[in-house]
Amino acid sequence: MVSQDFSKNLFPLALVLLLLLFSSAEAHVTYGFYNDTCPHAEAIVIREMAKVMAKSPRLAGPLLRMHFVDCFVAGCEASILLNSTEKYVAEKDAPLNIGLRGFDVIDAIKVKLEKTCPGIVSCADIIAMVARDSVFLSQGPYYEIPLGRRDGNRSLASDTLGNLPPPDSNITLLKAFFTKRNMTVKDMVVLSGSHTIGISHCLSFSDRLYNFTGKGDMDPTLDKKYATMLKSLCKPHDLMSAVDMDPGSSGRFDLRYYKLVSKRKGLFVSDAALLHDSETKAYVERQAKAKTAEEFFHDFAVSMINMGKIGVLTHQKGVIRKNCAFVN
Ligand code: HEM
Repeated sequence: MVSQDFSKNLFPLALVLLLLLFSSAEAHVTYGFYNDTCPHAEAIVIREMAKVMAKSPRLAGPLLRMHFVDCFVAGCEASILLNSTEKYVAEKDAPLNIGLRGFDVIDAIKVKLEKTCPGIVSCADIIAMVARDSVFLSQGPYYEIPLGRRDGNRSLASDTLGNLPPPDSNITLLKAFFTKRNMTVKDMVVLSGSHTIGISHCLSFSDRLYNFTGKGDMDPTLDKKYATMLKSLCKPHDLMSAVDMDPGSSGRFDLRYYKLVSKRKGLFVSDAALLHDSETKAYVERQAKAKTAEEFFHDFAVSMINMGKIGVLTHQKGVIRKNCAFVN
């Protein structure tokens, strides 16, 4: 009687253990993932990226940002690359993804990889490698990344809402967006350092200049001289001019972002908000004064690797898309 009950209970227990083992294996990306199946994958990506950057260094910004906006919306599964269809507006066409570009770079790299190793390298991994190489080729750190992501089949503009932090986010909201993704407050302040490269459209911060509280006023926390300079670049109602986020050094991945934020010259409300929390403020101030970028570069690599694990599809989940812009 007892032994019968025991064997009855053992089967579901074994099943649960097996499922647990399986699901934890599924959630992982690994180092050297393409060593056997496509050993030159990373070399091909960086070679193509070096050519792209030699011609168009300004693509580093959007190509780094692409990994962030992909991972924060439904995980790092390349949903950001899918085109809109007659039925659906895709993520890439969502208002919060304004300014995102460089999709053709990813598509061209995919074509090269398909020629060398057909059906092996996912679009999601290409985004991760391209983001890493964009940073390295902008004089930032180089770091190994785990790979093995697979691609999803869904992309909806509406999924960006509630998942991508808008530029007018305050510190409470910012923290909520990151913790929802199992990212720490440190990841948040470190990865915000990405705003050391690239551009923004006036739209993303013009309320800070002309209409902060709806009364035609300016954000009082913004440095006055900096605001005057920004007003000369973004006239009232000009939403689409592009402005360097780190003027004078926006092509170089360095510590200048933290220097600017510490002097109340962060471009977005979300950048300025990093001074409204003791942990993020301490990090900004330490990096603003740092003699070398060593600590930031190390932290950046760690946080990018953390971000690159959000909601990944691996093993038998997901697909390897043939063309990054279309489902198979
Ligand atoms: C903390 C919350 C964040 C907010 C609210 C935010 C918001 C924005 C906005 C509004 C833009 C400008 C879009 C435009 O007007 O063209 C931008 C640009 C950019 N963001 Fe962020 N971002 C955040 C975090 C991140 C993270 C985590 C990364 C990378 C890991 C990143 C990388 C970039 C880069 C590189 C650009 C420049 C893009 C270009 O040159 O076109 N951002 N971000």
